[in-house]
Amino acid sequence: MTKRAMTTKLKHPAKYSSTIMDCIARTVELYAWEQIVLDSSRPLRILDPMAGVGGINELQNLIPYSLDIKGIELEPEWAEQGGMICGDARNMGSLLPDLWVPDMIVVSVPYANRMADKYLPDKYRRMTYANALGRDLTLGSAASMQWGRQYQKTMAEVWEACANMLPPNGMLILNCKNHIRASVIIPVTKWHVYTLSNFGFEQIDNWFKVSVPHMRYGQNSELRVEFEDVVVMRKCEQRTEFEEIEYPTTLPLIAVDRRVMKENWKNDGRHHN
Ligand SMILES: C[S@@+](CC[C@H](N)C(=O)[O-])C[C@H]1O[C@@H](n2cnc3c(N)ncnc32)[C@H](O)[C@@H]1O
Repeated sequence: MTKRAMTTKLKHPAKYSSTIMDCIARTVELYAWEQIVLDSSRPLRILDPMAGVGGINELQNLIPYSLDIKGIELEPEWAEQGGMICGDARNMGSLLPDLWVPDMIVVSVPYANRMADKYLPDKYRRMTYANALGRDLTLGSAASMQWGRQYQKTMAEVWEACANMLPPNGMLILNCKNHIRASVIIPVTKWHVYTLSNFGFEQIDNWFKVSVPHMRYGQNSELRVEFEDVVVMRKCEQRTEFEEIEYPTTLPLIAVDRRVMKENWKNDGRHHN
């Protein structure tokens, strides 16, 4: 661990915002009830496999049920700061205590956007994971990957580990966000929902679009998607045989006219997809 990390609390650039946490808490509360009816003798077990500085712990302050929360985080500085288990989510089976099986997985994934840019020690204020840590990220970190095959392969391995870890009917609440690149919206959330369905998950509730204030600085700051997604999924009882399907590279992407967006931005300060 670097000297800087040992002496200072390192900021995390992508902690759960209070609005996202509120949306997640309401959803967990709704579905926790099912679990509590089944077995009220123990706290509800919640796992965040990409837990950052442990924002997931805030759930206990928002829900009137007793929770047993565990998180896994790859970067030692952040894991230590949040009291999370340090390790790679893809190996979650070997990181969690024996016989500890989560009832629910709640996770905010890296968004495969410019926050994955490399560490650049310069005078600019860069909202990247690497700059927040003050070093390049650990090998295997999905937070160091831009949208593309490597990100998809790594995240598919995380989803496979989640599918192996959760019991049938276990819930998975996903928080993700699309972004704009080369004038098109990259449907990152849709890709995750699609891949999770290949691992036996189905969407069982609304696809929440949560409006979030975003950074007003940086390149193209007016061209950012202003919503985060929260998607509620459940692991199906009968896991259908996983068939590897190549994700189409020619998705019907939504073209974005930068002039129109800039105009909208000037007019009302907000842009909606
Ligand atoms: C969106 S952030 C989560 C932040 C967290 N929700 C919080 O409130 O602090 C995603 C996290 O995933 C971690 N990560 C990336 N790849 C990982 C992997 N293979 N295993 C475990 N954690 C990983 C990153 O280091 C990053 O902290």
